[in-house]
Amino acid sequence: AVYDLVVLNGLVVTEEKTGEFDIAVADGKISKVVPRGQLSEDNAKRFIDAEGGLVMPGGIDTHVHLDEPPLYGKGSTADNYETGTRSAIAGGTTTLIAFAPQQKSQPSLLACLEATHIRARSNCYSDYSFHLICSNAGPTAISEFAALREAGISSLKIYMTYEALQLNDSEILDVLFEARKQKIVTMIHAENGALIDWTIKKLEERELFAPKYHATSHPPVAEVEATYRAISLSSFIDTPILIVHVSSPSAAKHISDAQKKGLPIYAETCPQYLFLTRRDLDKPGFEGAKCVCSPPPREGKDDQEGIWRAIEDGTFTVLSSDHCPFLYDNVETGKKSVISPEYPIGHFKYIPNGIAGVETRLALTLSANRISPEKFVKVTSTNPAKLYGLYPKKGAFIPGESDADITVWYPTGMKEFRLKNEMLHHNVDYTPYEGHVMKQWPRYTILRGEVVWDKDHGGIVGKKGYGQFVKRGVSTLAGSRSDQEWNVEDF
Ligand code: URP
Ligand code: ZN
Ligand code: ZN
Ligand code: ZN
Repeated sequence: AVYDLVVLNGLVVTEEKTGEFDIAVADGKISKVVPRGQLSEDNAKRFIDAEGGLVMPGGIDTHVHLDEPPLYGKGSTADNYETGTRSAIAGGTTTLIAFAPQQKSQPSLLACLEATHIRARSNCYSDYSFHLICSNAGPTAISEFAALREAGISSLKIYMTYEALQLNDSEILDVLFEARKQKIVTMIHAENGALIDWTIKKLEERELFAPKYHATSHPPVAEVEATYRAISLSSFIDTPILIVHVSSPSAAKHISDAQKKGLPIYAETCPQYLFLTRRDLDKPGFEGAKCVCSPPPREGKDDQEGIWRAIEDGTFTVLSSDHCPFLYDNVETGKKSVISPEYPIGHFKYIPNGIAGVETRLALTLSANRISPEKFVKVTSTNPAKLYGLYPKKGAFIPGESDADITVWYPTGMKEFRLKNEMLHHNVDYTPYEGHVMKQWPRYTILRGEVVWDKDHGGIVGKKGYGQFVKRGVSTLAGSRSDQEWNVEDF
């Protein structure tokens, strides 16, 4: 047989095992995975010698903000679909799920989905899908959930904080109830908005404006309380939820307790909670603004350790980037974006929330050498695919079924290097991980059988527009339980 591509001499990693296998690709699909030695470069039009490096299903990043309007009360995101997906493939991510935002003034989710399709279409380097952000849970939006499923969208994100987005508990119940009927996974940003706003006022009364007070104004208890409330509302309705960007080990504990009871509660964490702490917000001047996100990086090593442990023990289903990029310097004024005439020394509440990380997510985490390669694949690719209805097309190497989305890493012992923003492919003027020592980087990224990233020979070699919209089915992780005492029909 003549294949389009063979990847030879790799250490192939799946969520289950690691071994010496060769991979053959035909028509954009995984065709064969066989013990090393059975395939040679003569079997294919192109071959890649992995030289003993790790070979994994392409990364799937299920939390990415691209081309969003100023929904969080601040600026628009710096990356669009072109620059964001370009950055993704350079970091080993072959599929991302970005957000299709609905503003409170827009009743229809379907209209928001269409508008987002237009922003993405023919602009992407990676494959992509969308989660709808539902900020107006009125009757129009709720009545459209079934149509969203038809359109290949099986997840929504809702917020318990941010004035422009926040739903109250009754609206959350409306969403969860219909999500249960339509087998939609609801992602929840769990922070107590009122507690945060109250704390911001108190800090302002004392004229405390430095970036580090962003962390003070978003304390762990805001996250812990909202996480427990989200779990309670979900278990009342009996429908799966995913708590996004969990930063605090105490919130993770509530999640783990719910999981032990058999509830379909899933959770996500992000590299910022593994590699940053509150001290990164407390740098001289405005530097700290580079690490402002919500929830904020927590106190110190113990918190980071707690999050790593919760990845290891399975509490966290997925590790996403929450790539939410903003420029540090305002291009028009040439000044720091956070400085205004009113606040010449800046004010933490005007710092856009979110940091860039779609390109660094995989390499940072793998370089830390803290979890097994199998667990790494599970939380960065396979579980994201299962949770959001992409499996086994994505997130696996199942012959005949999986797309040939492959990330090939350098053989171990590659020269360490210090990360610099200029190496990255996003449209952002900084990385919060500047100077971080990296032990790994993707050498090749392959999307549906095509090499789209070749670090040593051309870098980005994929074409804008090659990335496709992927229609998603239902989650294949556990959903509503059948032993609930009431049925949806009772209401
Ligand atoms: O600070 C963050 N995480 N910004 C992105 C928006 C969100 O809530 O995910
Ligand atoms: Zn969020
Ligand atoms: Zn986010
Ligand atoms: Zn070479």
